[in-house]
Amino acid sequence: MAEQALQVAIDGPASAGKSTVAKLVAKRFGYIYVDTGAMYRAVTYWAMTHQVPLADDDAVAKMMGSLTISFKPGEPDQLVFANDEDITAAIRQPDVTNNVSTIAALPKVRALLTDHQRQIAAAGGVVMDGRDIGSTVLPKAEVKIFLVASAAERAKRRYAENITKGINTPLAQLQAEIELRDHKDSTRKVSPLTQAADAVLVDTTPMSIEEVVAAIAAIIKKQSSTI
Ligand code: DC
Repeated sequence: MAEQALQVAIDGPASAGKSTVAKLVAKRFGYIYVDTGAMYRAVTYWAMTHQVPLADDDAVAKMMGSLTISFKPGEPDQLVFANDEDITAAIRQPDVTNNVSTIAALPKVRALLTDHQRQIAAAGGVVMDGRDIGSTVLPKAEVKIFLVASAAERAKRRYAENITKGINTPLAQLQAEIELRDHKDSTRKVSPLTQAADAVLVDTTPMSIEEVVAAIAAIIKKQSSTI
C-alpha cells in the first residue's frame, strides 16, 4: 500500500527539542514543517513594535487583520516573515520570549492562529509543533507525540543554542524562565499545554537528537502502513 501523507503533531513544553526534532522528521519524510510557536512569537513582536497593548485580545486580534505570517525555506532555520519583513531573528530575542505567554493566553488570537494552522495542515504531509496541536488544532492527527525533558536539561540546551546566536543569558535565569513559562502555558484557561489522551510520551532527557528522530520516524512508519 502507498504511504499516506500524514499529519504529525509534536507538542511539549518550552525547549524540549520540538523544533529541532520536528524539522529533521519533516525532512526525512518530505513533509512541510510548521513552527506554531513562531506564529505566537510573530504576533507578540508585531504588537510590541506597533504599540498594541499585549493583554488586549480585541486590539491584538484587530491588528492581525493586517498581519500576514509566512514561512520561507532558509538555512539553518526556516525564515519567518510578518508581511514583507524578515522577523526570524527578532522573534527569538528575550523580550519577545518573555512576553509571548501573554499573547498565547488571548482566546481570539488563538482562534485566528488555530484557523491558519488548520489550513496549512489540511492536505497532510505536515509536521506541526506547538503546545496544543494534538489536543486542539489537529485532534485527528494520525501521529501525536508529547515531547518532554527535565527543566534543568532544557535550560542547558537553550543555553547552548543561545550562545551560538550571541545571546548570553545565565543558565540559572534560563531555567527559571522555562519553569515560569511551563507554569503559564499549562495553567492558562484556553488550550493549555496538555498531553492529548492518544499522544505518545517521549522523554528526551537521556536521548540524543538522532535517537528521538528515529523513535518518532518509527511511529510514523508504523502509522502510515496501518492506514
Ligand atoms: O515553542 P516556543 O517557545 O517558540 O513558543 C512560544 C510561546 O508560544 C510559548 O510560550 C507557548 C506559546 N505557544 C502556544 O501557546 N501554542 C502553540 N501551539 C505554540 C506556542
